[in-house]
Amino acid sequence: MKNNNYILGIHDGHNCGASLCIDGKIISSVLEERITRKKNEVGYPKNSIEACLRIANIDATSIAKVVIASNFMHHPSYLTDVSSWYLVGKNEQKLDKKISKDYLKSVFVQRRDARIKNVVKHLEINPANISFIEHHLAHLAAAYYTSPKLKKDKKFLGITCDGAGDGLSATVSICDNNNFNRISSTDRHASLGKIYSRITMLLGMKPWEHEYKIMGLAPYADQKIAYNEARKFHYLLKLNKKKLKFELNNNLSTAYSYFYFKEQFERIRFDNIAGAVQLFTEDMLVKWVKAAIKKTKISDIVCGGGVFMNVKANMLIQNLPEVNSMYVMPSASDESLSIGAALHYYNNNFNKDFLKNNGSMTDLYLGEPIYHKDLKATLNKIKKNTNYIIKENYDFDNTISNILHKGEPISICNGRTEWGARALCNRSIIARAGSKDIVERINSQIKMRDFWMPFAPTILDTKYKSCIEDKKNIKPMFMTFALPAQKKAQNKLAGAMHPVDKTCRPQVLKKSTNKKIYNMLKNYCNKYKEYGVLQTSFNIHGEPIVNSAGDALSTLQRSGLKHLVLENYLISKKT
Ligand SMILES: [Fe+2]
Repeated sequence: MKNNNYILGIHDGHNCGASLCIDGKIISSVLEERITRKKNEVGYPKNSIEACLRIANIDATSIAKVVIASNFMHHPSYLTDVSSWYLVGKNEQKLDKKISKDYLKSVFVQRRDARIKNVVKHLEINPANISFIEHHLAHLAAAYYTSPKLKKDKKFLGITCDGAGDGLSATVSICDNNNFNRISSTDRHASLGKIYSRITMLLGMKPWEHEYKIMGLAPYADQKIAYNEARKFHYLLKLNKKKLKFELNNNLSTAYSYFYFKEQFERIRFDNIAGAVQLFTEDMLVKWVKAAIKKTKISDIVCGGGVFMNVKANMLIQNLPEVNSMYVMPSASDESLSIGAALHYYNNNFNKDFLKNNGSMTDLYLGEPIYHKDLKATLNKIKKNTNYIIKENYDFDNTISNILHKGEPISICNGRTEWGARALCNRSIIARAGSKDIVERINSQIKMRDFWMPFAPTILDTKYKSCIEDKKNIKPMFMTFALPAQKKAQNKLAGAMHPVDKTCRPQVLKKSTNKKIYNMLKNYCNKYKEYGVLQTSFNIHGEPIVNSAGDALSTLQRSGLKHLVLENYLISKKT
Protein backbone atom coordinates (compact mmCIF):
# COMPACT_ATOMS: atom_id res chain seq x y z
CA MET A 1 0.00 0.00 0.00
CA LYS A 2 1.28 3.45 -0.86
CA ASN A 3 2.56 5.31 2.19
CA ASN A 4 1.64 8.97 2.07
CA ASN A 5 3.14 9.92 5.39
CA TYR A 6 6.52 11.17 4.22
CA ILE A 7 7.74 14.35 5.85
CA LEU A 8 10.07 16.56 3.87
CA GLY A 9 12.43 18.84 5.81
CA ILE A 10 13.94 21.76 3.92
CA HIS A 11 16.75 24.15 4.73
CA ASP A 12 16.84 26.99 2.20
CA GLY A 13 19.74 29.04 3.57
CA HIS A 14 23.51 28.61 3.49
CA ASN A 15 24.57 25.05 2.57
CA CYS A 16 20.97 24.23 1.75
CA GLY A 17 19.50 20.78 1.45
CA ALA A 18 16.58 18.48 2.12
CA SER A 19 15.76 15.41 4.18
CA LEU A 20 13.00 12.86 3.95
CA CYS A 21 11.52 11.14 6.98
CA ILE A 22 9.19 8.15 7.13
CA ASP A 23 8.02 6.52 10.38
CA GLY A 24 10.57 8.57 12.29
CA LYS A 25 13.59 7.52 10.25
CA ILE A 26 15.57 9.85 8.04
CA ILE A 27 15.84 7.79 4.88
CA SER A 28 17.51 10.37 2.67
CA SER A 29 19.30 13.62 3.22
CA VAL A 30 21.01 15.50 0.45
CA LEU A 31 22.98 18.73 0.28
CA GLU A 32 22.45 20.89 -2.77
CA GLU A 33 26.18 21.57 -3.23
CA ARG A 34 26.79 17.92 -4.05
CA ILE A 35 24.58 18.19 -7.11
CA THR A 36 25.21 21.74 -8.31
CA ARG A 37 28.95 21.27 -7.52
CA LYS A 38 29.00 24.74 -5.91
CA LYS A 39 30.40 24.67 -2.37
CA ASN A 40 27.88 25.75 0.30
CA GLU A 41 25.08 26.36 -2.17
CA VAL A 42 22.38 28.75 -1.00
CA GLY A 43 18.62 29.06 -1.56
CA TYR A 44 15.76 26.71 -2.33
CA PRO A 45 17.22 23.18 -2.59
CA LYS A 46 15.29 22.00 -5.65
CA ASN A 47 17.87 19.39 -6.69
CA SER A 48 18.22 17.98 -3.18
CA ILE A 49 14.47 17.57 -2.83
CA GLU A 50 14.28 15.75 -6.16
CA ALA A 51 17.22 13.54 -5.13
CA CYS A 52 15.49 12.67 -1.83
CA LEU A 53 12.32 11.69 -3.69
CA ARG A 54 14.34 9.69 -6.23
CA ILE A 55 16.12 7.77 -3.45
CA ALA A 56 12.80 6.92 -1.80
CA ASN A 57 11.25 6.13 -5.18
CA ILE A 58 8.23 8.33 -4.54
CA ASP A 59 6.78 11.49 -6.01
CA ALA A 60 5.55 14.61 -4.27
CA THR A 61 2.04 13.20 -3.80
CA SER A 62 3.41 10.95 -1.03
CA ILE A 63 4.51 13.92 1.05
CA ALA A 64 2.18 14.62 3.98
CA LYS A 65 4.03 17.65 5.22
CA VAL A 66 6.80 20.01 4.22
CA VAL A 67 8.62 21.64 7.12
CA ILE A 68 10.91 24.56 6.33
CA ALA A 69 13.65 25.29 8.84
CA SER A 70 13.99 28.85 10.20
CA ASN A 71 11.07 31.20 10.46
CA PHE A 72 13.09 33.77 8.56
CA MET A 73 15.64 33.20 5.85
CA HIS A 74 17.47 35.84 3.85
CA HIS A 75 17.17 36.08 0.08
CA PRO A 76 19.82 33.83 -1.56
CA SER A 77 21.62 36.85 -3.05
CA TYR A 78 22.22 38.11 0.47
CA LEU A 79 23.83 34.83 1.48
CA THR A 80 26.10 34.42 -1.53
CA ASP A 81 28.55 37.10 -0.48
CA VAL A 82 28.67 37.83 3.22
CA SER A 83 31.34 40.55 3.03
CA SER A 84 28.72 43.32 3.14
CA TRP A 85 27.49 41.94 6.48
CA TYR A 86 30.97 41.56 7.86
CA LEU A 87 32.68 44.79 6.88
CA VAL A 88 30.62 46.88 9.28
CA GLY A 89 31.34 48.64 12.57
CA LYS A 90 29.92 51.03 15.12
CA ASN A 91 28.48 53.48 12.56
CA GLU A 92 26.54 50.81 10.72
CA GLN A 93 25.30 49.48 14.04
CA LYS A 94 23.86 52.92 14.82
CA LEU A 95 22.22 53.19 11.41
CA ASP A 96 20.78 49.66 11.56
CA LYS A 97 19.22 50.38 14.93
CA LYS A 98 17.12 53.05 13.24
CA ILE A 99 15.48 50.60 10.82
CA SER A 100 11.81 50.46 11.70
CA LYS A 101 10.17 47.32 13.03
CA ASP A 102 7.42 47.70 10.43
CA TYR A 103 9.96 47.53 7.63
CA LEU A 104 11.59 44.41 9.12
CA LYS A 105 8.17 42.83 9.50
CA SER A 106 7.32 43.50 5.88
CA VAL A 107 10.59 41.89 4.74
CA PHE A 108 9.80 38.90 6.95
CA VAL A 109 6.32 38.46 5.45
CA GLN A 110 7.62 38.92 1.91
CA ARG A 111 10.31 36.30 2.40
CA ARG A 112 7.88 33.88 4.03
CA ASP A 113 5.49 34.16 1.09
CA ALA A 114 8.30 33.70 -1.42
CA ARG A 115 9.59 30.62 0.42
CA ILE A 116 6.13 29.03 0.47
CA LYS A 117 5.70 29.85 -3.23
CA ASN A 118 8.95 28.03 -4.05
CA VAL A 119 7.57 24.82 -2.54
CA VAL A 120 4.09 25.14 -4.01
CA LYS A 121 5.41 25.85 -7.49
CA HIS A 122 7.91 23.01 -7.37
CA LEU A 123 5.95 20.24 -5.63
CA GLU A 124 2.33 21.38 -6.24
CA ILE A 125 1.60 20.99 -2.56
CA ASN A 126 -1.27 22.62 -0.72
CA PRO A 127 0.17 25.60 1.25
CA ALA A 128 -1.76 24.30 4.29
CA ASN A 129 0.68 21.39 4.36
CA ILE A 130 3.71 23.62 4.63
CA SER A 131 4.95 24.80 8.01
CA PHE A 132 8.02 26.42 9.54
CA ILE A 133 10.17 25.53 12.51
CA GLU A 134 12.27 28.02 14.44
CA HIS A 135 16.00 27.82 13.72
CA HIS A 136 17.35 26.78 17.14
CA LEU A 137 14.44 24.42 17.74
CA ALA A 138 15.44 22.64 14.51
CA HIS A 139 19.08 22.50 15.68
CA LEU A 140 17.96 21.01 18.99
CA ALA A 141 15.56 18.53 17.38
CA ALA A 142 18.34 17.36 15.04
CA ALA A 143 20.62 16.73 18.03
CA TYR A 144 18.02 15.25 20.37
CA TYR A 145 16.12 12.92 18.07
CA THR A 146 19.22 11.49 16.41
CA SER A 147 20.94 10.79 19.73
CA PRO A 148 21.57 7.05 20.21
CA LYS A 149 21.12 7.43 23.97
CA LEU A 150 17.58 8.77 23.75
CA LYS A 151 15.11 6.99 26.03
CA LYS A 152 11.51 7.50 27.06
CA ASP A 153 11.24 9.51 30.31
CA LYS A 154 14.96 10.26 30.43
CA LYS A 155 15.82 13.94 30.65
CA PHE A 156 18.52 15.49 28.48
CA LEU A 157 20.08 18.91 28.51
CA GLY A 158 19.76 20.32 24.99
CA ILE A 159 22.33 22.92 24.00
CA THR A 160 22.52 24.86 20.75
CA CYS A 161 25.09 27.41 19.68
CA ASP A 162 25.80 28.99 16.29
CA GLY A 163 26.34 32.30 14.51
CA ALA A 164 22.66 33.18 14.57
CA GLY A 165 19.24 32.10 13.39
CA ASP A 166 15.80 33.60 13.98
CA GLY A 167 17.33 36.23 16.25
CA LEU A 168 19.18 33.85 18.57
CA SER A 169 22.71 32.50 18.78
CA ALA A 170 22.49 30.02 21.68
CA THR A 171 19.87 28.17 23.73
CA VAL A 172 19.64 25.82 26.69
CA SER A 173 16.64 23.49 27.01
CA ILE A 174 15.47 20.64 29.15
CA CYS A 175 14.33 17.86 26.83
CA ASP A 176 11.83 15.50 28.37
CA ASN A 177 10.31 13.12 25.83
CA ASN A 178 8.83 15.45 23.19
CA ASN A 179 8.73 18.45 25.50
CA PHE A 180 11.51 20.97 25.04
CA ASN A 181 11.52 23.52 27.82
CA ARG A 182 13.85 26.33 26.74
CA ILE A 183 15.30 27.79 29.91
CA SER A 184 17.70 30.24 28.33
CA SER A 185 18.37 31.95 25.04
CA THR A 186 21.12 34.28 23.87
CA ASP A 187 20.41 37.15 21.53
CA ARG A 188 22.03 37.04 18.07
CA HIS A 189 24.14 40.11 18.88
CA ALA A 190 26.00 38.30 21.69
CA SER A 191 27.20 35.48 19.48
CA LEU A 192 30.18 33.17 20.01
CA GLY A 193 29.80 31.90 16.45
CA LYS A 194 29.82 35.42 14.99
CA ILE A 195 33.10 36.17 16.75
CA TYR A 196 34.72 33.01 15.36
CA SER A 197 33.55 33.68 11.83
CA ARG A 198 34.73 37.31 11.92
CA ILE A 199 38.18 36.14 12.94
CA THR A 200 38.04 33.64 10.08
CA MET A 201 37.47 36.54 7.71
CA LEU A 202 40.09 38.73 9.38
CA LEU A 203 42.69 36.01 8.77
CA GLY A 204 41.88 36.02 5.07
CA MET A 205 39.70 32.94 5.00
CA LYS A 206 36.06 32.34 4.10
CA PRO A 207 33.59 32.79 6.95
CA TRP A 208 30.99 29.99 7.30
CA GLU A 209 33.39 27.61 5.61
CA HIS A 210 36.96 27.86 6.89
CA GLU A 211 36.41 28.05 10.64
CA TYR A 212 37.90 24.57 10.93
CA LYS A 213 41.15 25.96 9.52
CA ILE A 214 41.37 28.44 12.40
CA MET A 215 40.84 25.54 14.80
CA GLY A 216 43.62 23.60 13.02
CA LEU A 217 45.94 26.60 13.20
CA ALA A 218 45.31 27.30 16.90
CA PRO A 219 47.71 24.71 18.39
CA TYR A 220 50.60 26.45 16.57
CA ALA A 221 50.06 29.59 18.68
CA ASP A 222 52.29 30.61 21.53
CA GLN A 223 49.75 29.63 24.17
CA LYS A 224 50.85 32.40 26.57
CA ILE A 225 50.37 35.09 23.94
CA ALA A 226 47.10 33.51 22.83
CA TYR A 227 45.85 33.53 26.40
CA ASN A 228 46.64 37.24 26.72
CA GLU A 229 45.09 38.06 23.37
CA ALA A 230 41.92 36.16 24.28
CA ARG A 231 41.16 38.99 26.70
CA LYS A 232 40.15 41.10 23.71
CA PHE A 233 37.27 38.71 23.11
CA HIS A 234 36.31 38.66 26.77
CA TYR A 235 36.13 42.44 26.58
CA LEU A 236 33.27 42.00 24.12
CA LEU A 237 31.35 39.03 25.46
CA LYS A 238 30.71 37.54 28.89
CA LEU A 239 28.82 34.58 30.29
CA ASN A 240 25.94 35.18 32.67
CA LYS A 241 26.12 31.93 34.65
CA LYS A 242 22.85 32.57 36.46
CA LYS A 243 20.85 33.13 33.28
CA LEU A 244 22.93 30.61 31.28
CA LYS A 245 23.40 33.07 28.45
CA PHE A 246 26.08 35.11 26.75
CA GLU A 247 25.82 38.87 27.08
CA LEU A 248 27.57 41.85 25.58
CA ASN A 249 29.98 43.62 27.87
CA ASN A 250 29.41 46.97 26.21
CA ASN A 251 27.41 48.43 23.37
CA LEU A 252 29.29 46.81 20.51
CA SER A 253 27.37 43.91 18.99
CA THR A 254 29.40 40.93 17.78
CA ALA A 255 27.66 41.43 14.42
CA TYR A 256 29.56 44.71 14.03
CA SER A 257 32.82 43.62 15.63
CA TYR A 258 35.02 43.14 12.53
CA PHE A 259 36.74 46.52 12.69
CA TYR A 260 37.17 46.28 16.45
CA PHE A 261 39.12 43.05 15.93
CA LYS A 262 41.02 44.51 12.99
CA GLU A 263 42.26 47.31 15.20
CA GLN A 264 42.92 45.10 18.23
CA PHE A 265 44.85 42.45 16.33
CA GLU A 266 46.97 44.77 14.19
CA ARG A 267 50.51 43.31 14.07
CA ILE A 268 49.57 40.25 16.14
CA ARG A 269 50.76 37.05 14.48
CA PHE A 270 48.03 35.11 12.63
CA ASP A 271 48.57 31.86 14.57
CA ASN A 272 48.31 33.66 17.91
CA ILE A 273 45.00 35.23 16.83
CA ALA A 274 43.73 31.75 15.90
CA GLY A 275 44.94 30.42 19.25
CA ALA A 276 43.24 33.28 21.10
CA VAL A 277 39.82 32.82 19.48
CA GLN A 278 39.98 29.08 20.05
CA LEU A 279 40.93 29.47 23.73
CA PHE A 280 38.17 32.01 24.20
CA THR A 281 35.56 29.79 22.52
CA GLU A 282 36.60 26.75 24.56
CA ASP A 283 36.58 28.72 27.79
CA MET A 284 33.11 30.16 27.18
CA LEU A 285 31.58 26.86 26.09
CA VAL A 286 33.06 24.86 28.96
CA LYS A 287 31.91 27.39 31.59
CA TRP A 288 28.47 27.63 29.99
CA VAL A 289 27.90 23.87 29.95
CA LYS A 290 29.22 23.51 33.52
CA ALA A 291 26.81 26.21 34.70
CA ALA A 292 23.89 24.60 32.84
CA ILE A 293 24.56 21.18 34.38
CA LYS A 294 24.91 22.72 37.84
CA LYS A 295 21.60 24.53 37.50
CA THR A 296 19.54 21.73 35.96
CA LYS A 297 21.30 18.74 37.53
CA ILE A 298 21.07 17.03 34.14
CA SER A 299 24.39 15.62 33.04
CA ASP A 300 23.48 13.97 29.73
CA ILE A 301 23.79 16.55 27.01
CA VAL A 302 22.90 16.77 23.33
CA CYS A 303 24.38 19.55 21.23
CA GLY A 304 23.57 21.17 17.90
CA GLY A 305 24.50 24.26 15.89
CA GLY A 306 27.61 25.24 13.97
CA VAL A 307 29.78 26.05 17.01
CA PHE A 308 29.69 22.34 17.89
CA MET A 309 31.61 21.61 14.70
CA ASN A 310 34.52 22.68 16.90
CA VAL A 311 35.79 19.20 17.76
CA LYS A 312 38.49 20.55 20.09
CA ALA A 313 35.96 22.37 22.24
CA ASN A 314 33.80 19.22 22.18
CA MET A 315 36.78 17.25 23.49
CA LEU A 316 37.07 19.55 26.50
CA ILE A 317 33.34 19.55 27.23
CA GLN A 318 32.96 15.75 27.15
CA ASN A 319 35.96 15.49 29.45
CA LEU A 320 34.29 17.52 32.22
CA PRO A 321 33.61 15.39 35.31
CA GLU A 322 30.10 16.88 35.37
CA VAL A 323 29.26 15.43 31.94
CA ASN A 324 27.85 11.92 32.03
CA SER A 325 27.28 11.64 28.28
CA MET A 326 27.60 14.03 25.36
CA TYR A 327 26.18 13.62 21.89
CA VAL A 328 26.88 16.06 19.09
CA MET A 329 24.70 16.14 16.00
CA PRO A 330 27.01 15.03 13.17
CA SER A 331 27.67 17.96 10.85
CA ALA A 332 25.91 20.23 13.33
CA SER A 333 25.86 23.41 11.22
CA ASP A 334 22.82 24.58 9.29
CA GLU A 335 22.97 21.57 6.96
CA SER A 336 21.46 19.61 9.87
CA LEU A 337 18.36 21.84 10.01
CA SER A 338 16.36 19.88 7.42
CA ILE A 339 16.84 16.71 9.51
CA GLY A 340 15.73 18.52 12.68
CA ALA A 341 12.71 20.00 10.89
CA ALA A 342 11.45 16.61 9.68
CA LEU A 343 12.14 14.73 12.93
CA HIS A 344 10.53 17.40 15.10
CA TYR A 345 7.35 17.30 13.06
CA TYR A 346 7.20 13.52 13.06
CA ASN A 347 7.69 13.13 16.79
CA ASN A 348 5.28 15.87 17.73
CA ASN A 349 2.52 14.70 15.41
CA PHE A 350 2.92 10.99 14.77
CA ASN A 351 4.85 9.86 17.85
CA LYS A 352 3.25 11.95 20.59
CA ASP A 353 3.60 9.25 23.22
CA PHE A 354 7.27 8.97 22.48
CA LEU A 355 6.95 5.25 21.93
CA LYS A 356 10.20 4.66 20.15
CA ASN A 357 13.54 6.31 19.70
CA ASN A 358 13.06 6.63 16.00
CA GLY A 359 15.59 9.13 14.84
CA SER A 360 18.94 7.68 15.86
CA MET A 361 21.25 7.16 12.93
CA THR A 362 23.48 4.11 12.66
CA ASP A 363 25.23 5.52 9.62
CA LEU A 364 25.19 8.70 7.56
CA TYR A 365 24.99 7.13 4.11
CA LEU A 366 21.84 9.09 3.40
CA GLY A 367 22.75 10.59 0.04
CA GLU A 368 22.51 9.36 -3.50
CA PRO A 369 23.77 5.98 -4.67
CA ILE A 370 25.79 5.62 -7.85
CA TYR A 371 23.12 5.12 -10.45
CA HIS A 372 23.63 2.42 -13.07
CA LYS A 373 23.40 4.89 -15.98
CA ASP A 374 26.05 7.14 -14.46
CA LEU A 375 28.35 4.20 -13.73
CA LYS A 376 28.00 2.80 -17.24
CA ALA A 377 28.67 6.15 -18.91
CA THR A 378 31.69 6.75 -16.69
CA LEU A 379 33.14 3.31 -17.36
CA ASN A 380 32.70 3.87 -21.10
CA LYS A 381 34.67 7.08 -20.86
CA ILE A 382 37.43 5.32 -18.93
CA LYS A 383 37.58 2.46 -21.40
CA LYS A 384 38.19 4.92 -24.24
CA ASN A 385 41.19 6.34 -22.40
CA THR A 386 44.30 4.21 -22.86
CA ASN A 387 45.89 5.69 -19.72
CA TYR A 388 43.70 3.63 -17.40
CA ILE A 389 43.59 0.01 -16.33
CA ILE A 390 40.22 -1.34 -15.14
CA LYS A 391 39.94 -4.37 -12.88
CA GLU A 392 36.55 -5.89 -12.14
CA ASN A 393 36.80 -9.25 -10.45
CA TYR A 394 39.67 -8.80 -8.06
CA ASP A 395 40.54 -9.62 -4.46
CA PHE A 396 39.36 -6.33 -2.97
CA ASP A 397 40.63 -6.78 0.59
CA ASN A 398 44.16 -7.83 -0.34
CA THR A 399 44.61 -5.62 -3.39
CA ILE A 400 43.59 -2.45 -1.56
CA SER A 401 45.53 -3.41 1.59
CA ASN A 402 48.67 -3.91 -0.45
CA ILE A 403 48.34 -0.62 -2.32
CA LEU A 404 47.85 1.20 0.99
CA HIS A 405 50.87 -0.50 2.50
CA LYS A 406 53.01 0.55 -0.45
CA GLY A 407 52.18 4.13 0.48
CA GLU A 408 49.78 4.94 -2.33
CA PRO A 409 46.54 6.80 -1.52
CA ILE A 410 43.28 5.36 -2.89
CA SER A 411 40.09 7.20 -3.68
CA ILE A 412 36.75 5.54 -3.05
CA CYS A 413 33.38 6.19 -4.68
CA ASN A 414 31.16 3.40 -3.45
CA GLY A 415 27.49 2.98 -2.49
CA ARG A 416 25.41 5.86 -1.14
CA THR A 417 27.21 9.07 -0.38
CA GLU A 418 27.56 10.45 3.12
CA TRP A 419 25.35 13.28 4.28
CA GLY A 420 27.15 16.24 5.85
CA ALA A 421 30.53 17.92 5.85
CA ARG A 422 32.62 14.86 6.58
CA ALA A 423 33.37 11.91 4.35
CA LEU A 424 33.08 8.53 6.06
CA CYS A 425 34.67 6.08 3.60
CA ASN A 426 32.10 6.05 0.79
CA ARG A 427 33.43 9.21 -0.89
CA SER A 428 36.88 9.28 0.66
CA ILE A 429 40.57 9.20 -0.02
CA ILE A 430 42.32 6.73 2.24
CA ALA A 431 46.04 6.23 2.80
CA ARG A 432 48.56 4.75 5.21
CA ALA A 433 48.18 6.71 8.42
CA GLY A 434 51.77 6.66 9.64
CA SER A 435 53.51 8.45 6.82
CA LYS A 436 54.13 12.21 6.83
CA ASP A 437 55.33 11.97 3.20
CA ILE A 438 51.88 10.81 2.17
CA VAL A 439 50.40 13.84 3.93
CA GLU A 440 52.58 16.14 1.87
CA ARG A 441 51.68 14.29 -1.32
CA ILE A 442 47.96 14.41 -0.63
CA ASN A 443 48.21 18.10 0.26
CA SER A 444 50.18 19.14 -2.78
CA GLN A 445 49.08 16.77 -5.55
CA ILE A 446 45.56 15.79 -4.66
CA LYS A 447 43.72 18.01 -2.26
CA MET A 448 45.67 21.26 -2.82
CA ARG A 449 45.11 21.78 0.87
CA ASP A 450 46.61 24.16 3.44
CA PHE A 451 49.82 22.71 4.86
CA TRP A 452 48.88 23.16 8.53
CA MET A 453 45.61 21.25 8.36
CA PRO A 454 45.77 17.82 9.97
CA PHE A 455 44.13 14.75 8.46
CA ALA A 456 41.93 12.40 10.44
CA PRO A 457 41.97 8.63 10.82
CA THR A 458 39.38 5.93 10.27
CA ILE A 459 40.07 3.38 12.96
CA LEU A 460 38.89 -0.21 13.15
CA ASP A 461 36.58 -0.62 16.17
CA THR A 462 38.61 -3.49 17.59
CA LYS A 463 41.84 -1.43 17.48
CA TYR A 464 40.35 1.78 18.87
CA LYS A 465 40.96 1.21 22.57
CA SER A 466 44.61 0.52 21.98
CA CYS A 467 45.34 3.78 20.14
CA ILE A 468 43.01 6.56 21.35
CA GLU A 469 42.51 7.98 24.85
CA ASP A 470 38.76 7.94 25.38
CA LYS A 471 37.95 7.86 29.10
CA LYS A 472 34.24 8.40 28.56
CA ASN A 473 34.01 5.69 25.91
CA ILE A 474 32.52 7.97 23.27
CA LYS A 475 33.78 5.96 20.29
CA PRO A 476 32.82 8.66 17.77
CA MET A 477 31.45 7.17 14.57
CA PHE A 478 30.96 10.49 12.81
CA MET A 479 34.11 12.50 13.60
CA THR A 480 32.40 14.82 16.07
CA PHE A 481 35.16 14.83 18.72
CA ALA A 482 38.91 15.31 18.82
CA LEU A 483 40.65 12.91 21.21
CA PRO A 484 44.30 12.39 22.14
CA ALA A 485 46.26 9.64 20.40
CA GLN A 486 47.93 7.28 22.84
CA LYS A 487 51.68 7.73 23.00
CA LYS A 488 52.46 4.26 21.71
CA ALA A 489 50.18 4.81 18.68
CA GLN A 490 51.47 8.22 17.66
CA ASN A 491 53.97 6.92 15.13
CA LYS A 492 51.42 4.78 13.36
CA LEU A 493 48.93 7.65 13.31
CA ALA A 494 51.47 10.42 12.59
CA GLY A 495 49.87 11.46 9.32
CA ALA A 496 46.34 11.43 10.67
CA MET A 497 46.70 13.43 13.86
CA HIS A 498 47.50 17.02 14.70
CA PRO A 499 51.31 17.17 14.75
CA VAL A 500 51.41 19.74 17.54
CA ASP A 501 48.84 18.67 20.12
CA LYS A 502 48.75 14.97 19.11
CA THR A 503 44.97 14.81 18.99
CA CYS A 504 42.95 13.32 16.19
CA ARG A 505 39.35 13.33 15.03
CA PRO A 506 38.66 9.65 14.55
CA GLN A 507 35.92 7.84 12.70
CA VAL A 508 35.46 4.54 14.49
CA LEU A 509 34.38 2.03 11.89
CA LYS A 510 32.04 -0.80 12.79
CA LYS A 511 31.22 -3.77 10.60
CA SER A 512 27.52 -2.95 10.69
CA THR A 513 28.19 0.56 9.36
CA ASN A 514 30.16 -0.26 6.24
CA LYS A 515 30.83 -3.95 5.72
CA LYS A 516 32.85 -3.67 2.52
CA ILE A 517 35.35 -1.10 3.83
CA TYR A 518 35.37 -2.69 7.30
CA ASN A 519 36.44 -6.09 5.97
CA MET A 520 39.19 -4.56 3.89
CA LEU A 521 40.38 -2.44 6.83
CA LYS A 522 40.38 -5.44 9.13
CA ASN A 523 42.51 -7.32 6.64
CA TYR A 524 44.86 -4.34 6.26
CA CYS A 525 45.20 -3.71 10.01
CA ASN A 526 45.84 -7.35 10.82
CA LYS A 527 48.21 -7.94 7.94
CA TYR A 528 50.29 -4.82 8.47
CA LYS A 529 49.79 -4.19 12.20
CA GLU A 530 47.95 -0.90 11.78
CA TYR A 531 45.14 0.78 13.75
CA GLY A 532 43.38 2.22 10.73
CA VAL A 533 43.95 4.53 7.78
CA LEU A 534 44.23 8.23 7.10
CA GLN A 535 40.86 9.25 5.68
CA THR A 536 39.89 12.51 4.02
CA SER A 537 37.05 13.61 1.82
CA PHE A 538 37.27 12.78 -1.88
CA ASN A 539 37.41 16.19 -3.49
CA ILE A 540 39.84 18.81 -4.65
CA HIS A 541 40.17 21.63 -2.14
CA GLY A 542 37.35 24.16 -2.44
CA GLU A 543 35.05 21.76 -4.30
CA PRO A 544 32.17 19.82 -2.72
CA ILE A 545 32.78 16.14 -1.97
CA VAL A 546 32.25 14.04 -5.11
CA ASN A 547 28.72 12.76 -5.56
CA SER A 548 28.47 10.74 -8.76
CA ALA A 549 30.72 8.36 -10.68
CA GLY A 550 31.26 11.19 -13.18
CA ASP A 551 32.47 13.51 -10.39
CA ALA A 552 34.84 10.79 -9.18
CA LEU A 553 36.40 10.36 -12.62
CA SER A 554 36.75 14.11 -13.07
CA THR A 555 38.57 14.39 -9.71
CA LEU A 556 40.80 11.43 -10.56
CA GLN A 557 41.73 13.08 -13.86
CA ARG A 558 42.51 16.48 -12.34
CA SER A 559 44.55 15.26 -9.38
CA GLY A 560 47.65 13.24 -8.64
CA LEU A 561 45.54 10.29 -7.49
CA LYS A 562 46.47 6.99 -9.10
CA HIS A 563 43.72 4.65 -7.93
CA LEU A 564 39.94 4.84 -7.76
CA VAL A 565 37.62 2.25 -6.28
CA LEU A 566 34.41 2.80 -8.23
CA GLU A 567 31.78 0.40 -6.93
CA ASN A 568 33.08 -3.06 -7.96
CA TYR A 569 35.80 -1.69 -10.20
CA LEU A 570 39.35 -0.62 -9.50
CA ILE A 571 40.54 2.07 -11.91
CA SER A 572 44.28 2.71 -11.94
CA LYS A 573 46.36 5.16 -13.93
CA LYS A 574 49.12 3.53 -15.95
CA THR A 575 52.50 4.51 -14.58
FE1 LIG B 1 22.35 27.68 12.78
